[in-house]
Amino acid sequence: MKRDKIHLKAPGNWINDPNGFIYYKGRYHMFYQRFPYAPVWGTMHWGHAVSTDLIHWEHQEIALFPTKYEDQNGCFSGSAVECEGRMYLYYTGIHYHQADRDNIHFCPDDEYEASQLMISSGDGFSFDNFQGKTVVIPSMGEGAPGDRTDTRDPKVWRGKEAWYMVLGTKTGDGRGRLLFYKSPDLQDWTYVNSADGNRGLGDMWECPDYFETDGGGVLLFSPMRIMRDGKKDASQNICMRVDFEEETCTMRFSDAYQFVDYGMDLYAAQTTVDAEGRRVMIGWMRMPEAVDGKWSGIFSIPRVVEVKDGHIYFRVHPYADNIFSRKIDSPEEADDAGYKISLDMEDTESVGIGGYWIFRRGCHIFADRSNVFGAHTDYRMQFMTPELREGYHLDIYVDRNLIEIFVNQGEYVLSNVVYDLAGGIQADLAGGYEIYTMEA
Ligand code: FRU
Repeated sequence: MKRDKIHLKAPGNWINDPNGFIYYKGRYHMFYQRFPYAPVWGTMHWGHAVSTDLIHWEHQEIALFPTKYEDQNGCFSGSAVECEGRMYLYYTGIHYHQADRDNIHFCPDDEYEASQLMISSGDGFSFDNFQGKTVVIPSMGEGAPGDRTDTRDPKVWRGKEAWYMVLGTKTGDGRGRLLFYKSPDLQDWTYVNSADGNRGLGDMWECPDYFETDGGGVLLFSPMRIMRDGKKDASQNICMRVDFEEETCTMRFSDAYQFVDYGMDLYAAQTTVDAEGRRVMIGWMRMPEAVDGKWSGIFSIPRVVEVKDGHIYFRVHPYADNIFSRKIDSPEEADDAGYKISLDMEDTESVGIGGYWIFRRGCHIFADRSNVFGAHTDYRMQFMTPELREGYHLDIYVDRNLIEIFVNQGEYVLSNVVYDLAGGIQADLAGGYEIYTMEA
């Protein structure tokens, strides 16, 4: 079985969203959207990897694959919960009304319908794809609160007195919408309420994830077509403080939102609770091109989500931070899983990492990947954090195809997919820098 360190990557061919992320019976299980046959998106399966420390991942057999009418054309994203020792997975089944005759993995004119399904397992490894699937929410008919085609990505959680599910969908006039369902037993689900977004905040909401923190409720979601600058990708993962009232399933949104990551590559992030009770998040880093033509899709370093004074922080998970503890002099001495550079940046200073540039102008940190992103000029090349309030300390995690910049311990994060890093570190920094890698 293929193994990964730090960043979970496609074990060949294609992966997208993290799915069913859960700490269950002493292991972290990460499922993911998977097309096993080519390094492109296609009929979705759920791939599966496990880890005991969120750092070392071991890929498993495919967990879910199409078997039923409802999921004939794909097992789309969803989530996991545990109840009385069993693992329950919820996901969206896709059924095409017609398929492209030359490529059955595509659906002409989006003529398809979506239903929500459940499957459970007693050990987290074996799933009865033939007998074990139940449709818990059928596809939306006339007058239903959601769209027949675009309703998906069930995220289930335990509330005070019941189980809750949130789904992403859209309104008839092209705004994002959330649907809330409630269940006493994880089997019977009743629709309770919806919450609509404003015009301009995307026209369909993917992958909602709601949770509570000590600093209040948080919603992570991925509105489609929220960016209107003509560059890829127009769909972006955002987050905001929200209030959720369980009895009536009423969600109140804040006016302001943050991007989960200001590198604009991260998408469809999902959270769970780790062994010590932290809220941990992992997101999919989108790639415009398969690496060596062989694999596409890499996941972020696990990040801890915290809220302080209304601001949402994404900190490097301590398991990941602790493991980069071996001080080295140059990147050549690093473990093949990469290295971390720590530094403080004065105004106008900069650092180059194999052709990827990071610099400071006033109260913002900027990044430029134009030398290390091939000919993908239809994508964004320059990035910037919002105005910083807590200083200019950078912890930069460098892997061959991913650079993640944590500013001020997660006040903001800016991460970019890169190709062809070449050359070492070029620093114009009064305070210098330190490099760390993993223990051998
Ligand atoms: C987000 C998404 C989800 C969907 C899945 C299909 O990237 O479009 O909404 O369930 O990917 O692979």
